[in-house]
Amino acid sequence: MRFYRALLLSSVAILSAPALAIAQATDPDVRAESALKQMTQDEKLQLVFGYFSTEAPWMSFHVPVGGLPDSAGFVPGISRLNIPPQWETDAGIGVATQRSPTPRERTALPSGLATAATWNADLAFQGGAMIGHEARMSGFNVMLAGGVNLARDPRNGRNFEYGGEDPLLAGTIVGQQIKGIQSNHIISTLKHFAFNDQSTSQDHLNSHIGDAAARTSDLLAFQIAYEVGDPGSVMCSYNIIHGDYGCENTWLLSDVLKTDWGFKGYVMTDWGATHSTVKAANSGLDQQSGYPFGGQNYFSAPLKAAIAAGQVSQARLDDMVRRNLRAMYANGLMDDPVSGDQAAKLDLTKDAQISQADAEDAIVLLKNEGLLPLTKSAKRIAIIGGHADVGVLSGGGSSQVYPLGGSVVPNEGPDAFPGPMVWYPSSPMKGIVARTSAKITFASGKDLKAAARLAKSNDLVLVFATQWSAEGMDQSDLTLPKNQDALIEAVAKANKNTVVVLETGDPVTMPWLDKVGAVVEAWFPGTNGGEALARVLTGEVNPSGHLPITFPASLDQLPRPALDGGAHGGDKIYIANYDIEGAAVGYKWFDKQNLKPLFPFGYGLSYTTFEMSDFIPEDVTPQGLIMRFSVKNTGAVTGKEVAQIYVSGTGWEAPKRLGGFAKLELAPGETKSARITIDPRLMATFDPSSKTWTVAEGDYGVLLAAASDDVRQSVKVHLSKMVFDVRGRLAR
Ligand code: BGC
Repeated sequence: MRFYRALLLSSVAILSAPALAIAQATDPDVRAESALKQMTQDEKLQLVFGYFSTEAPWMSFHVPVGGLPDSAGFVPGISRLNIPPQWETDAGIGVATQRSPTPRERTALPSGLATAATWNADLAFQGGAMIGHEARMSGFNVMLAGGVNLARDPRNGRNFEYGGEDPLLAGTIVGQQIKGIQSNHIISTLKHFAFNDQSTSQDHLNSHIGDAAARTSDLLAFQIAYEVGDPGSVMCSYNIIHGDYGCENTWLLSDVLKTDWGFKGYVMTDWGATHSTVKAANSGLDQQSGYPFGGQNYFSAPLKAAIAAGQVSQARLDDMVRRNLRAMYANGLMDDPVSGDQAAKLDLTKDAQISQADAEDAIVLLKNEGLLPLTKSAKRIAIIGGHADVGVLSGGGSSQVYPLGGSVVPNEGPDAFPGPMVWYPSSPMKGIVARTSAKITFASGKDLKAAARLAKSNDLVLVFATQWSAEGMDQSDLTLPKNQDALIEAVAKANKNTVVVLETGDPVTMPWLDKVGAVVEAWFPGTNGGEALARVLTGEVNPSGHLPITFPASLDQLPRPALDGGAHGGDKIYIANYDIEGAAVGYKWFDKQNLKPLFPFGYGLSYTTFEMSDFIPEDVTPQGLIMRFSVKNTGAVTGKEVAQIYVSGTGWEAPKRLGGFAKLELAPGETKSARITIDPRLMATFDPSSKTWTVAEGDYGVLLAAASDDVRQSVKVHLSKMVFDVRGRLAR
């Protein structure tokens, strides 16, 4: 407490008179206020209404004047006040293009879930900085990136866009990505606020979850991402929460986001997620996006009329505009404006290296009985399936990034949105050929008998299996599609030296697991994914990814074995009962129910071994409990370990929570020590009535682990009662 007061005093001292004057000259609040005062009512209304920016003949819509073609959105600027237009592009893995015969060809990061699998905050920042730069150089100043919805269901078709199932991991990784994007003087958009945790019937799904459970799960992920990344905007979601749509939800937009967390930016809708004028405006929505999606213009003439009729106050409109302007000033959109399409100047080779580094840290080695890295004794290697001869798979929908030269496998998957599938021209096979003297033979895997024959005549087989994920659709179950389980069974029967390489958007079951020698999860590995995979498989890179999501053994282990809203039709509203698991999402649910998953959260093997030791509590500060420990590389090759700290207390939603993590690179024999501060909110319970986080007095288990089920050291720490305000600041 004394330490806390000292901090406060020193920050007061810094604000001496001259410093304050300079601060005011650059203060985004002051600048926003001054611009607002000079605006006419029509100019204000212009700023809170956004358009789609792609030809859409089915809605009789043309790209607005000044909009960038084939892009997500456009909000006209006000040149007399030096307020630039907002040129909006998707999304979290790079500069996307809406469906077009001439898409922008840009660098794609691995999927969001893959970046979460790195557990590497620096890489998340660098990836964000790279795609933000490409966005800027493509003429965009708003990137619709930063998806942090928790993976409540392993079938969610958008899990690949998000950061996994744990609030700390997802919030940290996505927050760093946002920070990286905004380092380019553009705005990034935290989305989809909130509980947009499945695609099935998403606009007809009413999510139910109690306040305390909400704040300790999905909302905590958003809160951490917001604190780390300081996004200029937040995108409200399609679904309904406690009876109100995400984009007209006073509890979420005004109470939680703006009042409790102190968000000073603006809330934009998802495309077509506006449902009203008066209710939406008064709930805290600041900008309708993507007109004509949703079919109705709610925020220009209708909003003007609602203000004139006294249904929405002038102060509310001014607040919308002020927030919008503030985000633009704070992020440099006026001081360092984007200058059109400069994409020819991009160094795509350099950018691809950043994506590759991300993929190399993201690939998870799930099983290895000595088959990997590929040894010299394998003289004849068969590669089967997954188009591994030409490329790697990517996730579909509005976040789709197109590669240089276009998809290397044309016309696969649905022709209409979110298809067709896009395969990046980075061939794992070519990468392996370049790194081994073995004779490599490829088969598509379509003919099971031919695949088995090929497997039999080779020393080792790499089977590539894929599962496409895309916006607008969930997986129907956890099974690999297109009979690929049968392919793997047939190959493994013919040759026990079978390595399975997965490129999936979601967890899958592996009925053949006992029959294969190794399994690698590569997610959607991005622009240079084939190269990254080849380096990991041949041992040039030691795998260091750890699962950011539990791989269930079967659907009946889930809180909702059947997805809600599956029989969707008409206007019927379905309930997604998130109160079943509450805040016990993912591994917390599995722990609580005592269920054994196929692979647990936090799990990942390496080509080396690590030892963890010296785990001790160092201090308790207002920022949290500080733990110290050491990790030693006890094997023969350099590698990276993800040290995970879990905490356990009483009266929680589940036996344990992730409290902190660190990724450490170690040469053989090397030992490094690390310190991790555990955010007090992760050791507390939230009380909705007082809006406080309380760490109860008592003993806490603090566990040092290599996976959620692999605890290496544990200590008991006694803590006295501490109360923190809703933003996690020590109150008493
Ligand atoms: C998606 C958003 C995206 C928007 C604009 C919507 O369908 O849900 O994530 O930013 O489209 O393309």
